[in-house]
Amino acid sequence: MALIETQDLTRRYELGGEIVMALDGVSITVETGEFVAVMGPSGSGKSTFMNIIGCLDRPSSGRYALAGEEVSSLSKDALAGVRNRRIGFVFQQFNLLDRVDALGNVELPMVYAGADRAGRREKAIAKLKRVGLGERIHHRPTQLSGGQQQRVAIARALVNDPVLLLADEPTGALDSRTSLAIMKLFQELHREGTTVMVVTHEPDIADFADRVVRFLDGKVVSDTRQTARDAAQALADAEAASAAQDAKDAAARAALHKKEAAE
Ligand SMILES: Nc1ncnc2c1ncn2[C@@H]1O[C@H](COP(=O)(O)OP(=O)(O)OP(=O)(O)O)[C@@H](O)[C@H]1O
Ligand SMILES: [Mg+2]
Repeated sequence: MALIETQDLTRRYELGGEIVMALDGVSITVETGEFVAVMGPSGSGKSTFMNIIGCLDRPSSGRYALAGEEVSSLSKDALAGVRNRRIGFVFQQFNLLDRVDALGNVELPMVYAGADRAGRREKAIAKLKRVGLGERIHHRPTQLSGGQQQRVAIARALVNDPVLLLADEPTGALDSRTSLAIMKLFQELHREGTTVMVVTHEPDIADFADRVVRFLDGKVVSDTRQTARDAAQALADAEAASAAQDAKDAAARAALHKKEAAE
């Protein structure tokens, strides 16, 4: 059974009397355990698609079955229930609450799911450790780097053990090395069995997926499989290159000092 199966999905927006077809007949199947990158120019419908797949929005027409359950016709409340049980969502701008610390942010979805307090805390700490933030659980978002904030958002997305992890440009606000670290984490979660779908504008990021789906004008215009690049290796290479550059800079500085001292 496919994890995601859509048939002729459309999403229409009406704005000032004009109709925008943000999605225009999308039929796609994603099996459990895939790692899919979603690409396409700005305005091509990527976020609209992700929001429907993530049960944050409903299609105007068409069908969407998630793990065999038809969800396109569910009420808003029922849809929120499905989302809470099955889906983790990560956004470009992290969408964390600034008033509470990392732990509080990660606990939040469990509050909605009605988990007890001690269980919530234990699970949130475990997920923060999982993303490498065990030492930062009492930092607020403003006291964390961008990459650390995105890790908090990923821990929050993981807290109800979703089968499906969706990320809409998760590295869009991060530098290249931090982006690699985030993609390494996604690949690890994928290897542990989570189905992952990531929207990105960057071909370098799409390289880490097994499949690339391209959108244009609300339609899927290509859908190809590839051998994923290993993000752990890419990160190690980037770190080695940066260390080599640092060593070169230090040597150049030392040579300059020596020359100055001799003059
Ligand atoms: N709430 C809305 N009301 C009206 N039109 C909308 C709304 N949300 C999106 N659209 C339109 O739907 C189309 C698809 O938007 P969408 O946000 O899915 O694009 P995208 O591929 O995610 O673009 P980007 O790469 O810039 O994030 C665009 O033409 C956009 O203007
Ligand atoms: Mg978008």
